Amino acid sequence: MTMPFQPAAFPYARPRRLRSQPWVRRLVAETTLTPADLIWPIIVHDGAEDRVPVASMPGVFRLSPKEAAKAAVEARDLGIPMIALFPNVDGAIKDSVGTAASDPDGLIPDCIKAIKDAAPEIGVMTDVALDCYTDHGHDGVMENGRILNDVSIERLVEQAFIHAHAGADAVAPSDMMDGRVQAIREALEANSLPDTLIISYAAKYASAFYGPYRDAVGSSKSLTGDKKTYQMDYANADEALREVAMDISEGADALIVKPGLPYLDIVRLVSDTFKIPTFAYQVSGEYAMMQASIANGWLEEDRAILETLHAFKRAGASGVLSYFAPKAARLLGA
Ligand code: PBG
Repeated sequence: MTMPFQPAAFPYARPRRLRSQPWVRRLVAETTLTPADLIWPIIVHDGAEDRVPVASMPGVFRLSPKEAAKAAVEARDLGIPMIALFPNVDGAIKDSVGTAASDPDGLIPDCIKAIKDAAPEIGVMTDVALDCYTDHGHDGVMENGRILNDVSIERLVEQAFIHAHAGADAVAPSDMMDGRVQAIREALEANSLPDTLIISYAAKYASAFYGPYRDAVGSSKSLTGDKKTYQMDYANADEALREVAMDISEGADALIVKPGLPYLDIVRLVSDTFKIPTFAYQVSGEYAMMQASIANGWLEEDRAILETLHAFKRAGASGVLSYFAPKAARLLGA
């Protein structure tokens, strides 16, 4: 007697049901990406030209203050809440202590004012570090080949104060000196600037992925040695938690993890542990890597951009600093 055919146990659980149509995929999406999640990093310069292309970052230009104001208007119109300024200054004004970093009439104060005139609604964040202003390309003051922590902090406090005084909404120390958040916070409080945000680069790693940025701001030619005595070792994750805890206790309002995609585990760890606004920075090397592949036709531009930006949200980031910000905002329908 032949056995009647018995079908195998039926798979009642079919995860594909929830993927079967665009509407259901949208309905069950666990994370969303909108222009409000983006911070656009902009390179500004004190040269005569309005816009100078950055060779290693196709699509990125060094902008004059006037052009930076136009970019701010564009960002505002796209629904991007904040831009982040990074300076490329004339090599002739660089020195060993980064004097030009705290010039009240310098490039960054000029740009802040031009941007605030043109688009007062947009948030402006500035980079607090000396590397763009020192002739040795380091973020702090160097003596006999060593970066001096506490002496550097005095310079960084002056720089942060000048930015805040010129109208920056947020100062973002990216120098990784110990104790700088507290020193900056105290100076802001003491100088009637209690509302300026400190968005601290709390977990910033010594990374090969900053290469194109150093070219963009003109610090790559001058940089002597590496930044491993102050930026973090990529072997470490627990240390990021200690760095973040310190910066929060010193008065940071929000944090940045940097670089981005290679450090998604850190984004997840920090956001789960501290429940404080945590931003990821998709840095210049990540941008350059993608642009090079896109130019070769190896990556589909729009899809690759949205997928990477989404990954940061999935990892728990509140938002992302990305050179793709305006492009992404357009893709998102802004
Ligand atoms: C340094 C600074 C760096 C970046 C932003 N601020 C580079 C560095 O530490 O050398 C990198 C940004 C990027 O690569 O996009 N103050």
